[in-house]
Amino acid sequence: MHDLPPGLAELGRRLQESLGTGEAEAAIAGWSAPRTPAFRVNLMRTDADTLARELAAAGIAATRHPLSPWSFTCAPEAAYALKGSRAFHDGRLYVQSLPSQVPALLGEVSPDDACLDCTAAPGGKTSLLAMRRGRGRLEQPGNPPGKPSKIAHFDAIERSPIRHQLLKHNLTKLGCDWVRTWKSDSRSLPQAVRQRRYRHILVDPPCTGSGTVVPADARTWAHLAGRYDGYVAIKAQQQYGIAMSAAELLAPGGSLIYSTCSLDPEENEAVVDALLTARPELSLIDATAPGPLIGGAVPALAHWRGRDFHPELARTCLRLQPGAWGEGFFVAWLVSAGSSLPGTSR
Ligand SMILES: C[S@@+](CC[C@H](N)C(=O)[O-])C[C@H]1O[C@@H](n2cnc3c(N)ncnc32)[C@H](O)[C@@H]1O
Repeated sequence: MHDLPPGLAELGRRLQESLGTGEAEAAIAGWSAPRTPAFRVNLMRTDADTLARELAAAGIAATRHPLSPWSFTCAPEAAYALKGSRAFHDGRLYVQSLPSQVPALLGEVSPDDACLDCTAAPGGKTSLLAMRRGRGRLEQPGNPPGKPSKIAHFDAIERSPIRHQLLKHNLTKLGCDWVRTWKSDSRSLPQAVRQRRYRHILVDPPCTGSGTVVPADARTWAHLAGRYDGYVAIKAQQQYGIAMSAAELLAPGGSLIYSTCSLDPEENEAVVDALLTARPELSLIDATAPGPLIGGAVPALAHWRGRDFHPELARTCLRLQPGAWGEGFFVAWLVSAGSSLPGTSR
């Protein structure tokens, strides 16, 4: 096992127990791999070709990434210049790792689809899904001008008051200020949100962040030192609570994307498995396609601590190790009964 600072020993042991020695070693090595900076164009402000030209003119060599038509990477040496660029400051790009783009890229989304992000700040996934959906249909043929009859809602929930301010700031900067934000706990939502049903729901709940650890930088893991086992159990409980509330708001055939930047099965497979047990109308669809495009994909776990997970889970969930391509990450794509989405497994 790699030498880890004493504060990471509990997490290191836990990874070995959960993932096996080979995968735990690879994850720990991946923690320290220098990251390739990634970002995406913001179509609310520009387009990908124009952005590439703007960055080139500023001396920043950006490379298109196959993950999506909007994804880019650049050399590590360019990261500083990227965050100092006009395009960054004016919201024409958003710095976002490749793994963390995935939840907002899965599935088709049309302007008529109501969308909900249950854990939204700082707004990276909200704004990417909003960009893909667009502002929505504001007027319908036959309506008097200026009297829209139907607006597909886009709601974003954030519990922390400070982070809610940050969310609003970012959505405005990115040209998505039409997304309605709510300062609320997703487990006890305002009536106006609770009564709606959504076609797309993102649940990217708070987690231990064990996929984002950098051993040489104690700021990335000090919160885990000396209390890992108890802390992960608290997080898993919150995650399950948020995901269960979200599932109640799914329209028939709607999809719920669950993601974390944790490596721990207690926050990932175990939460999704419990959700599938509690909500039999939910089923899994394949979220693994982005894996080979990004790198670092490993199969999700089929069992853990003597418990067999839902038989589709290992085949359909995306589990990424940390590495040069980004942080460790987990994504499950659930769909509620009534779906016409291709590839649904029931
Ligand atoms: C992992 S971050 C989300 C990152 C975001 N999806 C993005 O891509 O920019 C989780 C967020 O959920 C918020 N949060 C935690 N518990 C919550 C709850 N019960 N209801 C709503 N938001 C919550 C946290 O304050 C934090 O901002």
